[in-house]
Amino acid sequence: MIRFDGAAKRHPDGTVAVAGLDLEVPAGRITVLVGPSGCGKTTILRMVNRMVEPTSGRVLLDDTDVTRLPAAKLRRGIGYVIQQAGLFPHRRVIDNIATVPYLLGWERKKARARAAELLELVGLAPETAKRYPFQLSGGQQQRVGVARALAADPPVLLMDEPFSAVDPVVRAGLQEELLRLQGELNKTVLFVTHDIEEAVRLGDQVVVLREHGLIAQLADPHTLLTAPADESVAAFLGRDRGLRGLGLRSAAGVAVRPLTDTSQYGSWDLTREAEGRPANWLAPDGSTHPAPAFHPGTDTLRTALDAAVLSVAGLAVAVGPDGRAVGTADRAAVLAALADDRDRPVSTHGR
Ligand SMILES: Nc1ncnc2c1ncn2[C@@H]1O[C@H](COP(=O)(O)OP(=O)(O)O)[C@@H](O)[C@H]1O
Ligand SMILES: [Mg+2]
Repeated sequence: MIRFDGAAKRHPDGTVAVAGLDLEVPAGRITVLVGPSGCGKTTILRMVNRMVEPTSGRVLLDDTDVTRLPAAKLRRGIGYVIQQAGLFPHRRVIDNIATVPYLLGWERKKARARAAELLELVGLAPETAKRYPFQLSGGQQQRVGVARALAADPPVLLMDEPFSAVDPVVRAGLQEELLRLQGELNKTVLFVTHDIEEAVRLGDQVVVLREHGLIAQLADPHTLLTAPADESVAAFLGRDRGLRGLGLRSAAGVAVRPLTDTSQYGSWDLTREAEGRPANWLAPDGSTHPAPAFHPGTDTLRTALDAAVLSVAGLAVAVGPDGRAVGTADRAAVLAALADDRDRPVSTHGR
């Protein structure tokens, strides 16, 4: 666990970067710091690995004041990922990943074997190992950055806007990957972003900051979206926060009508492929239209509602794990699941 205990940073020029932060970052969870540019996020993060020393207050790592630990030793136990990955340009990917193991004095062979393992863990092909950073896409570089941070299996991971410089599609993939990794590794993650969407997607707890590192709200994503502490937090969350909340809820609770119950189809007919996968909605005039689908077990209510809204028949097709159509749900059924779910805390990551 990381604890900020009145931790403050005032620069010699008088700038108060962080006025005094009290915060607990629980072990094994993802805590996201989110707030506008200049509000002190990076300063807070760097107080943990002593790249910034507090001018008053303390930062405790498992009850030890970090200033009492030798900086080099402290940093080897903390993975650090930054925006442009911060890779060494003149080193091959494999040696970039093995940076900390080398520093720890591991034998070259063992360090490289570990690096190869991590390459696979973050979803990169083995041949990536021999490349230089400039030969990789932005998304691949970020994956290498994450692999490098994980190399010595540190219990703590600091991530400073790691996915901000890549395009939205790649970013979504990296977020997905981080959640999958975290499901396996259970690190204590302190993640910084200015993107509220990313914050609610990744965070077990989300800390909304305003200037000088002051906490505007600390909550789980669902509470944040449904009960913002004040007008400024609500404004920061944006106008469609209700809809985004749908993205945090499992579609498992949607009442699905079996395919045999065709009473709700109206004049539409659902055609299927030989293996039972949904194919199209067939109109009486013989024209066919896409049949948007959702997986109740793994998708969110947002996906289910989206499918129902996009469907010409007004019905989302529910498909089982094997891809076979099992039934349909209309928009009302999706919204009814939301109402049922309202008072229940959410499984943040659809896990
Ligand atoms: N070395 C410095 N000297 C003076 N002010 C600084 C210094 N470093 C950062 N700041 C100021 O501290 C505030 C917080 O910076 P930072 O933690 O980088 O914010 P964020 O990461 O949220 O964008 C900003 O106003 C920034 O200009
Ligand atoms: Mg920053």
